[in-house]
Amino acid sequence: MQDLAGKHIVLGLTGGVACYKSAELCRLMVKAGATVQVVMTESATQFITPVTMQALSGRPVYISQWDVREPNNMPHINLSREADAIVLAPCSADFIARLVQGRSDELLSLMCLARPIDRVPLLLAPAMNREMWSHPATLRNLAQVQADGAIALGVGTGAQACGETGDGRMLEPAELMEDIVAHFQPKVLAGQHVLVTAGPTFEAMDPIRGITNHSSGKMGFAIARAAREAGARVTLVAGPVHLATPRGVKRIDVQSAQQMLAAAQSAAQDANVFVATAAVADWRPATHSNQKIKKDGSGRAPSLAFTENPDILLTLAQGERARRGQLYCVGFAAESENLVEHAKAKRERKGIPLLVGNIGPLTFGQDHNSLLLVDDAGVRELPRAPKQVLARELVAEIAARLPVWKPA
Ligand code: C5P
Repeated sequence: MQDLAGKHIVLGLTGGVACYKSAELCRLMVKAGATVQVVMTESATQFITPVTMQALSGRPVYISQWDVREPNNMPHINLSREADAIVLAPCSADFIARLVQGRSDELLSLMCLARPIDRVPLLLAPAMNREMWSHPATLRNLAQVQADGAIALGVGTGAQACGETGDGRMLEPAELMEDIVAHFQPKVLAGQHVLVTAGPTFEAMDPIRGITNHSSGKMGFAIARAAREAGARVTLVAGPVHLATPRGVKRIDVQSAQQMLAAAQSAAQDANVFVATAAVADWRPATHSNQKIKKDGSGRAPSLAFTENPDILLTLAQGERARRGQLYCVGFAAESENLVEHAKAKRERKGIPLLVGNIGPLTFGQDHNSLLLVDDAGVRELPRAPKQVLARELVAEIAARLPVWKPA
């Protein structure tokens, strides 16, 4: 997915063992369609060679402000003017202190100081020992550098190269990528709380077995990520799926429809948008055995009785917040044929402003999908694309409808 297509990123490396992760970050950015210009401090070259970074970025690396390759001999001006963003990864404690002081005695800090502050964002991925990270000087410097307009991307927790364990590791390249991509998305849901249900439910009949379905949860996770990228606070209530939690999203894992309803109701108390993508089991076994149901040797199978599950979307759509116009509900319909008719009927039945239809067999487990948006105004198709791209389009569609929506 070309999430950074057309973007030019200046990737700055400062001295730290986390430089080994910057090679992968550079690769991921190039793969996502960005052009990447690497700038390194002398200290960074102690940890990883410019040769590696040149090979991965496809461009010669800049290290010195006296670089004669620039016709005007001003690499600090030229490099910063071209950039859509400057990403410092790793950003050492010393370099943060240098930024705070506006130092400019080597190329990278000089370039950061010379960047057009309103046009070229500066993103920092700090990396240091946990004692350095929690030192009052670092906390003070980090607060100041953010007050001066830089964006700090946070740190990871865990084992550190020095042998200690704690906060201060650089985020993993994939995590940094999510944050960098998110940075470029329009903040159309800023200030909103978005609730998403995703994945299948698992309805147990005994401690070992139960009924479920093939929903992968990919569309719901993509929507949660897109809503977060758009600036919303996001709660993701997930059935049993094997997917990583999108960055910055609060995830609540559940198994059954009843658990999903309870978690969704609780989160919906202050949510403004509810997107129901979960493939909730329509029925659950009427009884649950505390012990495994065993074969009794008679050759007869046990008969199973079912109870209907609560409809989570319907419950929230009929709730007080939705009726008062405080919770915008979006439903999904997976059909195998007659999508438009079924989608329209389902929207009426659930009493929701927006229903998103898709063809079940073409979406389950896939990374691509196409969507049909059905609302008061009619029907609109979002053509086949990666689910993350569609999720961003859907988030933009929802954001555009929020200010004009009135409950029926
Ligand atoms: O009624 P049907 O299952 O076809 O409706 C699909 C929509 O309703 C989806 O948005 C799904 O997440 C939601 N739903 C729900 N709880 C159920 C059944 C469906 O939230 N028990």
